[in-house]
Amino acid sequence: MQKKVVVFSQIDTEILEKLQARYQVVIINPKMGDVNEQMQRELVDADGMIGAGRVLNEKNLATAQKLKIISSVSVGYDNYDLSYLNQKKIWLSHTPHVLTETTADLAFTLLMSAARQVPNLDQWTKQGQWKRTVGTAQFGQDIFGKTLGIIGLGHIGAAVARRGFYGFNMNILYHNRREKIELVQPLNAQYRSLKDLLQQSDFVVVAVDLNADSKALIDANAFDLMQKHAVFVNISRGSVVDEQALTEALQQGKIFSAGLDVYQKEPLQVSPLFSLENVVTLPHVGSATAETRKKMANLAYQNLVDALEARTPRYLVNENFSN
Ligand code: DGY
Repeated sequence: MQKKVVVFSQIDTEILEKLQARYQVVIINPKMGDVNEQMQRELVDADGMIGAGRVLNEKNLATAQKLKIISSVSVGYDNYDLSYLNQKKIWLSHTPHVLTETTADLAFTLLMSAARQVPNLDQWTKQGQWKRTVGTAQFGQDIFGKTLGIIGLGHIGAAVARRGFYGFNMNILYHNRREKIELVQPLNAQYRSLKDLLQQSDFVVVAVDLNADSKALIDANAFDLMQKHAVFVNISRGSVVDEQALTEALQQGKIFSAGLDVYQKEPLQVSPLFSLENVVTLPHVGSATAETRKKMANLAYQNLVDALEARTPRYLVNENFSN
């Protein structure tokens, strides 16, 4: 009998066609009524799931009888209840590596935009406010040769560090669970405690995974430690930062500006951040380029097919129990 796959978010059309050629495919569609009801109904006889951007836990997976794999089209997997998946022996796979450089590009885009007030000045110019030579209110911060502090030196954090070092002659500091000697030697990067990194950096980029240790890691105290001219960038997960403390730090000028791609609640539709000029807000687009999203979709497809055809997927997140 043909295997059944539930697609739980928009995915690349070519990949969807490849799936449809191989399996019975059901697409969860928010326009067709309650998403959780659709999922509960479709999961009863589903063998696999593929998608991204949806919280999946005991509550919405409960009806699954023979689910083998959830193939996430993302590198982050904080949306999934791993202990429940382990208990039910459902594999979870993800798509690392292919999005590293693109996400690091976006970190630098945010860093530079926030340092030089790019979106704000763009609006200011278009609104016809450029009546004479710009004044101090339009000034930004130098980037070249400054100190870049990276919290979380995984693949993406390291790619941000390389951009800072090779592209902008920056002095690189990092904070990580483990020191990464081989990785950082060519960049002359120095390990710092979180406190020292926050105090010494001109630019702070957060690139950690969200887990119990990193939740609200950047709180009001962290913003108090940063320099008044500091630029703060978050490309990891919104819940790593206390958003209210960040908003207050920006309102009170405790830091110069921030560049954000991620938020505590997504999609973000209303926020006090939206009325601030010193924050650049993007809608979680770290990996969102046509080429990278295609690579992610391909990898997720491959992980799914491997699992459904009795092979162990290459990029498993949870235990490799025989499935
Ligand atoms: C990821 O893959 O986890 C990125 O945040 C894009 O969603």
